[in-house]
Amino acid sequence: MSSLAIENIGLLVTNEPSLGEGPLGIVRDATLVFDGDRVAALERPGAPADRQFDAAGRCVIPGFVDSHTHLVFAGDRAEEFAARMAGKAYEARGIRVTTEATRAADGDELRALAARRRAEALRGGITHIEIKSGYGLDVASERRLCEIAAELTDDVTFLGAHAVPEEYEGRPDDYVELVCGQMLAACAPLARWIDVFCEQGAFDAMQSRAVLTAGRSAGLGLRVHGNQLGPGPGIQLAVEMGAASVDHCTYFDDADIEALAGSDTVATFLPATDFSTRQPYPDARRVIDAGAQFAIATNTNPGSSNTTSMSFCVALAVREMGMTVEEALLAATLGGAKALRRDDVGRLTPGARADAIVLDAPSYIDLIYRPGVPLIDASFVAGRGVWRSAPPNE
Ligand code: NIG
Repeated sequence: MSSLAIENIGLLVTNEPSLGEGPLGIVRDATLVFDGDRVAALERPGAPADRQFDAAGRCVIPGFVDSHTHLVFAGDRAEEFAARMAGKAYEARGIRVTTEATRAADGDELRALAARRRAEALRGGITHIEIKSGYGLDVASERRLCEIAAELTDDVTFLGAHAVPEEYEGRPDDYVELVCGQMLAACAPLARWIDVFCEQGAFDAMQSRAVLTAGRSAGLGLRVHGNQLGPGPGIQLAVEMGAASVDHCTYFDDADIEALAGSDTVATFLPATDFSTRQPYPDARRVIDAGAQFAIATNTNPGSSNTTSMSFCVALAVREMGMTVEEALLAATLGGAKALRRDDVGRLTPGARADAIVLDAPSYIDLIYRPGVPLIDASFVAGRGVWRSAPPNE
């Protein structure tokens, strides 16, 4: 196994307080050594290794962990976005527009589109990603989306309960039966998670509970889309059923916060969605101060959040949701890992997967201080350099 030393790191974020300063466990003037696909050690300058990468005094952080994406889809809804910016409201029914385009696309086209988006996310420093199905909404199409997602990640989420497709209009319970039966049987072998869009206009609490219960019986972990477009039962249901994460959380009340704080369910905020749908930004401060677990994810999808930029999400979370810079960085790394119930990513500690990004900046603060500037100089996944903005120097 070959080793790599990232040398001359001015500021290293480990996300492990016992290894350095503050909640981010910061180590200054560090060398980070990878042995094969794992972090081997944090060393002082001059540590021996087969290969070297000179960080030139800049900042190195754990790779971003994106715990919520809908990466596999065809078509585009730019016109819908423009209409929204002109005042039209966001509607979950847009999911059907993308479903039609996705069903019509052939496998190679979908595969190429998803791979391109994954490459774009890597360039932005996302070293681990969750990918949902949800734009197929029939057995064969959902299975195809799960297959393509599984080629890109081991965190595949079956989201047959994303919307009621047109052919089931007026018969949502029949569709839920399909999702819980034949569709789940076809998709569960490819997935780690099941998700449901628990929202007015999508699936109600009873239907959502049925989907989650069936998924759990099939051996899948639980995730919930909840409280995106208005107050609703999503957060409470997610907590009650022990879901790993409840995502969106744009609307919540005191009881929702209390439920989250007394649980292991991660409240995953999707700031680019609130940006793109003109929803109000949630006050994440209240959730954090109550002691709940929290994360940030991109929610890459063509309708409500067509971005792969975690840096953009981090900046919005700080500027608009009341997170400190350090909280937002933790949310986009360790928080995402917790939302996926993983302890191998989201941190740079001995034994963790060697996923790191080198910023073209002296500090992680620049991610927010210099919004919109591409600051990812290099991304490493499992010890391998997968993106470099400049020619290699290792
Ligand atoms: O997470 N909320 C449901 N699903 C996506 C939106 C999908 C769409 O509009 O196409 C989301 O925002």
